[in-house]
Amino acid sequence: MLESLKIQTNHFKLHISLSHTLSKYSNHILLLIAIFKSHHKSKKMIAIPYLTALTTYFSYGLLFAFGQFRDFFRKIFDWFRYNNLHGYAPICLGLEDFYIRRLYLRIQDCFGRPISSAPDAWFDVVERYSNDNNKTLKRTDKVSRCLNLGSYNYLGFAAADEYCTPRVVESLEQYSPSTCSTRVDGGSTTALHNELEDCVAHFVRKPAALVFGMGYVTNSAILPVLMGKGSLIISDSLNHNSIVNGARGSGATIRVFLHNTPQHLEEVLRELIAEGQPRTHRPWKKIMVIVEGIYSMEGELCKLPEIIAICKKYKVYTYLDEAHSIGAVGKTGRGVCELLDVDTADVDIMMGTFTKSFGSCGGYIAGTKELIQYLKYTCPAHLYATSISPPAAQQIISSIKVILGEDGSNRGAQKLAQIRENSNFFRSELQKMGFEVLGDNDSPVMPIMLYNPAKIPAFSRECLRQNVAVVTVAFPATPLLLARARICISASHSKEDLVKALQVINRVGDLVGIKYFLAEPIKQKFD
Ligand SMILES: Cc1ncc(COP(=O)(O)O)c(C=O)c1O
Ligand SMILES: *[C@@H]1O[C@H](CO)[C@@H](O)[C@H](O)[C@H]1NC(C)=O
Repeated sequence: MLESLKIQTNHFKLHISLSHTLSKYSNHILLLIAIFKSHHKSKKMIAIPYLTALTTYFSYGLLFAFGQFRDFFRKIFDWFRYNNLHGYAPICLGLEDFYIRRLYLRIQDCFGRPISSAPDAWFDVVERYSNDNNKTLKRTDKVSRCLNLGSYNYLGFAAADEYCTPRVVESLEQYSPSTCSTRVDGGSTTALHNELEDCVAHFVRKPAALVFGMGYVTNSAILPVLMGKGSLIISDSLNHNSIVNGARGSGATIRVFLHNTPQHLEEVLRELIAEGQPRTHRPWKKIMVIVEGIYSMEGELCKLPEIIAICKKYKVYTYLDEAHSIGAVGKTGRGVCELLDVDTADVDIMMGTFTKSFGSCGGYIAGTKELIQYLKYTCPAHLYATSISPPAAQQIISSIKVILGEDGSNRGAQKLAQIRENSNFFRSELQKMGFEVLGDNDSPVMPIMLYNPAKIPAFSRECLRQNVAVVTVAFPATPLLLARARICISASHSKEDLVKALQVINRVGDLVGIKYFLAEPIKQKFD
């Protein structure tokens, strides 16, 4: 192959460079298709004001055009560099590279902001400066004390806690930060690991549970064990990336149903069961429907009762990711099953993470004893990955005890009541101000729609200037048109904190022009 390449004629070289150019353009065409698709998808979920959609497209079009224009000149000035690649294909050039350089880097100061304290209701955000138009950001020694509306600290366990912290410190002294081996090797399953698994199984009301060192890995490593070639995964269109990657890695056939739409799930199921496997049309080996308890970018609760009814009707398995709902909703913090009155016996595989309500790290799978035993023999994240850190395990055990009142206080119940009250208060006030807020009551996650790309940094920077730290999310984490700010409410926010946050968001909302639902200017009581 190499030899023959060396003796290519000019004609062939031209052909190669032509197809190279074409493939480059095809990338851009793909981006346009992705943009079009995302618009198509978004239209079904959220009614975007017509003018807003137009200006948003225009803004992205402008950014895209200027980016291309600048890239064109960069290529001319840097042409000799490309001749020095010594036959290697570029490792980081491509569509993502264009998006990162020309769109993301312009507003990167709004993302990945370093902090220098625990992510409590208030935290210290490290100030940064740049000498090169924000291409690189350098930390200063200065911090600004900000109200934290971005962490998944739903129950306030992320900061020092009178019950949890002393026990965590004790476990650190007794064990160590790491077990330095996998669960099946010697000395890595400590007494804490066994206690944690019993504790989690009891908490989520399943016979058994298995824990992992990371929530992301829990999804991405479990799905390939349970599903494979010849099986069918039916996944909500807005499922988390860890589920998407787990499903892809499993080799199973994957079909997506419209986000949180049980009717469409049923249509897809019926059609695929009738069709059977591709080409052979044999029956599927297994079918599993995967949904989340609370969708982290939408703040929506899963329509679990309807979905479970359909899954039972067609005798397919259900997999529920409770990353954002476990601990955060339900009378005793047991998640969406408790909130929506679903029997946990009807959910075959319950998954969740400890990185949100419990203020720790790691993830779990809960199910029947047979399922958990099978996973212990087969799951690579159990067999080949270092087990969860003992102090992290202790933090989870202690926080579950507080939630269930087993610490001898009613702090857990208070926290649960507080997060519910805080969330519903904050959501209804935002709505009254005229913001377009997504999600359901009781959910502590509430996205505020921004749409326009210029409004992402404007909103984020202005809030930070007024000491309120918010998270903004845009493409590719959301469809292109649907950029948003995502507020996460915590039980540790006091009423004064929430009122301050509302005052700031109200002012910034007027300034940035994101009160899309404001029919007429209403005089706010927060002025
Ligand atoms: C629905 C869902 N599943 C899984 C994860 C991954 O969990 P972790 O952050 O603990 O790795 C997340 C993280 O945000 C999530 O939102
Ligand atoms: C760089 O970031 C700061 C905020 O951190 C912002 O005020 C400024 O406008 C940004 N500069 C550019 C060129 O985008």
